[in-house]
Amino acid sequence: MPELTTLPSSLLPIGIAVIGCGRISGAHLAAVAALPKQVRLVAAVDADLAAARVAAKPLGALALSSLEEALALPEVEAVLIATPNALHAQQCLAALRAGRHVLVEKPVAETGEQAAGLAREAEARGLVLAAGHTFRHNAAVRHIVDNRERFGRLRSLEVSSCVKWDGPQAPWWAERKPEEGLILSLFAPHALDFVQLVMGDDDPVRVHAEAARHQPGWQGEDEAMILMAYPGRRMASVHISYNQPSVLDRKVLHFDKGVLEIEHGEILSWNGEVLITPPEGVLVDPRAMGGRTLGHYFSDQLAEFVRAVHGQPHRCPTGHDAARLIALIDRVKASARTNSAADAIDPPPPA
Ligand SMILES: NC(=O)c1ccc[n+]([C@@H]2O[C@H](COP(=O)([O-])OP(=O)(O)OC[C@H]3O[C@@H](n4cnc5c(N)ncnc54)[C@H](O)[C@@H]3O)[C@@H](O)[C@H]2O)c1
Repeated sequence: MPELTTLPSSLLPIGIAVIGCGRISGAHLAAVAALPKQVRLVAAVDADLAAARVAAKPLGALALSSLEEALALPEVEAVLIATPNALHAQQCLAALRAGRHVLVEKPVAETGEQAAGLAREAEARGLVLAAGHTFRHNAAVRHIVDNRERFGRLRSLEVSSCVKWDGPQAPWWAERKPEEGLILSLFAPHALDFVQLVMGDDDPVRVHAEAARHQPGWQGEDEAMILMAYPGRRMASVHISYNQPSVLDRKVLHFDKGVLEIEHGEILSWNGEVLITPPEGVLVDPRAMGGRTLGHYFSDQLAEFVRAVHGQPHRCPTGHDAARLIALIDRVKASARTNSAADAIDPPPPA
């Protein structure tokens, strides 16, 4: 057994700090705990030190109250940023400038310009900037990516991702201004990441979005439909909602040889024949909120990030690829504001 210090760095766990110990941090911390050979938690960081302590304790890590304190620790080689959206760009930049790899929750930044700047910074420093597009890390999506040629030529693609959030899930959801976007910033990144993954290197030539606000507890839009035209006469539509109590998560891809469908995020079928099913226990009650277990997404995502840090082939959207998605979200938000602000988003929703 070689001494730890003589092991190649790719065999040592990466020292990581989780920044932001709120709702989603539990999934990230469970992923860290599940991958002890790949990562070790050096510090849990939250502006609320009590929250950092709760997160740090089970993994024997330090509890800190600022990103800067974590970046001062040489053992921190990478940071996982899970703070409110408005902080992502500045925290990513600080971490990259301090020479750390970054896995940041979606969206990478609030604007395409910020995201492109981060991608340039990461590239110039030879660091990984990876976006947490969690839901690409599943067997059904991977099967499509890996077997893309078998299905023929893609004509069109429909994504429906409709859930029920009964008001703000964190205080900052309510504070977001309509022009900053609510569902288009918080939820659209998942659906649009799938579209971009399937469409490859192409960005849409045209984007049209309509959005509406139905709930009074926030200012931004909570329902949206997006229609995109891609090069090669391909089209994609996305319907996202925070207003649907019977959860609907469906992706339908129309190829010249047939139809691929992903139902409940997990079950892949080709012309009605089931190709991929999830492990037992993942789909508990998929039409209910919280009716799917999601832990495997976060551990698979973290494992892919570690591969990226080691310079190995990986499945994380990184750098300029991650920034492309934020540029697309800029276009979607602009279209929604132009089309829908005056009569569907800004006025108070009906009582
Ligand atoms: N991938 C997914 O499926 C998924 C799901 C939920 C949320 N998210 C993303 O994760 C991020 C966090 O969302 P959440 O729901 O956990 O929010 P949250 O508000 O519950 O948690 C954010 C935490 O960050 C802390 N914080 C605030 N400012 C800080 C600072 N300057 N330094 C350190 N910590 C600070 C807060 O105290 C809070 O504990 C968001 O960007 C959201 O879009 C992703």
